[in-house]
Amino acid sequence: MENYIINKPLLLAPMAEISHRALRELIVSFGGCDEYYTEMISAGALLGGGPFEAYYTDGGPCPDRVVYQLAGTSGEQLAAAAAVLDRKEKAGIDINMGCSAPAIVRTGAGVRWMDSPDRAGEMIRRVRRGIKGRLSVKLRTGPADDPEYLIRFCKRLESEGVERITLHPRTAKEKFKRRARWEYVGLLRGALGIPVAGNGDIDSAEDLVRRAAGDCDGVMIGRLAVRAPWIFAQVRGPVLPAGPETARAPAIFPETVNLEEIALRFLELLEQYQPREFHLSRARRFFTYFCDNLLWGTYLKTLLAREQELSAMARLLSAYFREHPEQRDLPVSQGR
Ligand SMILES: Cc1cc2nc3c(=O)[nH]c(=O)nc-3n(C[C@H](O)[C@H](O)[C@H](O)COP(=O)(O)O)c2cc1C
Repeated sequence: MENYIINKPLLLAPMAEISHRALRELIVSFGGCDEYYTEMISAGALLGGGPFEAYYTDGGPCPDRVVYQLAGTSGEQLAAAAAVLDRKEKAGIDINMGCSAPAIVRTGAGVRWMDSPDRAGEMIRRVRRGIKGRLSVKLRTGPADDPEYLIRFCKRLESEGVERITLHPRTAKEKFKRRARWEYVGLLRGALGIPVAGNGDIDSAEDLVRRAAGDCDGVMIGRLAVRAPWIFAQVRGPVLPAGPETARAPAIFPETVNLEEIALRFLELLEQYQPREFHLSRARRFFTYFCDNLLWGTYLKTLLAREQELSAMARLLSAYFREHPEQRDLPVSQGR
């Protein structure tokens, strides 16, 4: 397998029910990435002392590389929640202005912030005033496909003290429809003085290398990092403990990965690091993407979704690989 050197920061995307400690542990076991965004943390639940907040704010196993992402509906709430997270060891705090899930948007959170530069700017000012750590925002193109609006909006965020932006260049309504418009990443980068990372639709190591070589200050990976938690190490080699700006020598990366071993290890990590109440939902989310490595992955996903215990999922996975041993070792260069 050919190795590459990429000097730009490689980031794990925030993904609800996916970007938690167990996934980070798995990614770190292959060599890690530069920064790990957490799944969005509800500012309201954090302030209200919800029963599972300790899990959402567990920064292990590399707390200094974790970016805590907050979702919330008001400046007051987000500023208070950011101040709580600011006391933790971390790489930064991120505000979610990109989530387009109806349940989030309805409350005025997520991409709804992009409707009004004034409302968003005032919120950022409040958050900024209350924290010492790095403040970033992850967003979409905005309510419409209007790059001028996007630039105006982001300039306002920059003037209020946002230090980094990650752009997932789709409009609020597009969900995963159409291709992400990566040309907007370069456009935004040229208009701002702060770093702009790009995100969206990276589907292979070759894609990742191509995007990283393009007009952006960093690359964020979502779904591919679940299907292929080795992807960061595959393109660059182990990045721990070196810093994000350090050029790294390519590592010797294995030609194949053992999918059964990875799947079972993930279940063990879930058991170790997530509360029982989260086990099934988190396992199903993970396998939604991980099973795409397998020829009969869609069928396996359906079977896994019926199980009510992680141990039963483990038995099912082992049975699958007993039946299809030729699918156990995946040549990484041929990841489907
Ligand atoms: C299951 C799932 C959950 C997501 N949750 C979040 C989230 O909590 N916060 C956020 O900013 N984006 C969230 N996203 C969007 C991703 O961070 C990312 O922008 C999107 O998946 C595009 O990147 P990709 O093509 O590399 O997956 C989520 C995406 C998925 C698939």
